[in-house]
Amino acid sequence: MNHFPVIAIDGPSASGKGTVAQKVANQLGFAYLDSGALYRLTALAAQRAGVLWTDEAAVAELAAKLDVVFVGESILLSGDDVSVEIRSELIGSGASQVAALPAVRVALLQRQRAFSEKEGLVADGRDMASVVFPHAQLKIFLSATPEVRAQRRFKQLLARNEPADLAVITADLQARDERDRLRSVAPLVQAADAYLLETSNLSIEAAVNQVLLWWRDKSTKTL
Ligand code: CDP
Ligand code: CDP
Repeated sequence: MNHFPVIAIDGPSASGKGTVAQKVANQLGFAYLDSGALYRLTALAAQRAGVLWTDEAAVAELAAKLDVVFVGESILLSGDDVSVEIRSELIGSGASQVAALPAVRVALLQRQRAFSEKEGLVADGRDMASVVFPHAQLKIFLSATPEVRAQRRFKQLLARNEPADLAVITADLQARDERDRLRSVAPLVQAADAYLLETSNLSIEAAVNQVLLWWRDKSTKTL
C-alpha cells in the first residue's frame, strides 16, 4: 500500500481536474498522474488493433501491455506521439467504454500506483480517492455545472482550431458522465472523506490555492 504523500483529485469531465492537478503538482514539486490518459491510450490502442471497445478480454490484454512513455507534455504510445490524438471526443468516449470493463481496470491498477514517488504525487481521475489511492492524505472532488463544463470543452476545442458544436459537446459530456457514474466498477463518486470543490464560479488560480490551503492544513496536522 502507498505511504508516500498523495493528493487524489476526482471529478467529472471538464471540472478542471487536469489543469488544477498539474499546477498543484508543479507548486509542490510532486509528480503528476493523469489516469484518464491511460484509459484514453487503451481505447486508442484497441482502435488501432481493430479490437472492439466492448471486447473485455482483448482490451484488458492490450491495457496490460501498453507501451507508454510520458515525456513532459508528450505521451508516446509504442514510440508514436499521440498526445493530441488521445484528446479527441471519440477517444474520450472510447475511454469511458473501456473504463467500464472490470478486467481493464484491474490491468491498469498497478501501473497507476507505480506513479507514486517519495516526493509526492497528485493524481487525477474518477477513482483516485476510492480505489487507486484510498490512503491518499488529501482527497478532493472537483465539480462544476454541466453547462459550465460544456462551455469549457467548447472553448478548448475552439482554441485548438477543432470543430466545436456546443449541443454535441453537451450531449457527449452527459453520456460520458452517466456511463462513469452508473458503471458497476469504480463509478465516479465523491469519496466520503473527500473535500468538495465546486469550480463553476472559481478561477483556476483560486481552485489551485484552495487545494494548496487544504494540503498545508493536512500536512501540519498529519505529515
Ligand atoms: O481534466 P478535466 O477534464 O477535469 O478538465 P481540464 O481539461 O483541466 O479543464 C477543462 C478546461 O476548463 C480547461 O481549458 C481549463 O483551463 C478550464 N478551467 C476553467 O476555466 N476554470 C477552472 N476553475 C478549471 C478549469
Ligand atoms: O479529461 P476528461 O475528464 O474528459 O477525461 P479523462 O480524465 O481523460 O478520462 C477519460 C475517461 O476515462 C473518463 O470518461 C472515464 O470513463 C475514464 N476514467 C476512469 O474511468 N477512471 C479514471 N481514473 C480516469 C478516467
